[in-house]
Amino acid sequence: MAKVSPSILSGDFGALREQVKLLELAGSDRVHIDVMDGHFVPNLTFGPVVIKSIRNATRLPFEAHLMIEHPEKLMEDFVESGCDILVVHPEAKHDMKQTIAFIHFLGKEAGIAINPDTPLQKVQKYMHEIGTLIIMSVYPGFAGQKFIPEVLPKIKEAREMIERLGLDIKLVVDGGITLETGKLAIEAGADELVAGTSIFKSDDIIKSIAQFKNL
Ligand code: DX5
Ligand code: ZN
Repeated sequence: MAKVSPSILSGDFGALREQVKLLELAGSDRVHIDVMDGHFVPNLTFGPVVIKSIRNATRLPFEAHLMIEHPEKLMEDFVESGCDILVVHPEAKHDMKQTIAFIHFLGKEAGIAINPDTPLQKVQKYMHEIGTLIIMSVYPGFAGQKFIPEVLPKIKEAREMIERLGLDIKLVVDGGITLETGKLAIEAGADELVAGTSIFKSDDIIKSIAQFKNL
């Protein structure tokens, strides 16, 4: 059974509350929230005020994927808005050690997301301090992109590292996830799949989530 964390970036922004309720009903494990600042990535999405507006619509954990420069500057706002897992990029401008320590100080789970061309070694020294590792299978910035199969060996490498070091880390793959690419990611060692387009643009969100969970 795979875990599924739908990305609401592909959802209907005019009905986000109803959409997250549906995600919970369908058995999703987390809500994946793609925060973009127009600097770290050339796209702008939503921030703490929008997250706050959907927080009490579901009990699902909110996984904030912070594709932003200096995530530490708004970290308290993201926590206050109801985010449970705060995922930051080593490619962004900030001090990773300090950011992780700040997330822990705020009482939340820290996560790291790495771009397709970022080697796992770049974040190995933080692995003991995080609960979620996201291997990006697209370059961050937009929904609807094509899965990059070259990341499959990195997923396998991450799985082997987690096992070898006996770490309690959820291994997540994010970007271009369909039933086909999701199956490949699971076979490579992923615990959880982030999918946006393939869920929200399907003709049946509930059925789509059930299919992912059965991978
Ligand atoms: C891309 C985001 C992904 C993306 C997933 O920067 O991090 O979460 O929105 O959407 P799909 O499933 O359409 O690739
Ligand atoms: Zn994401």
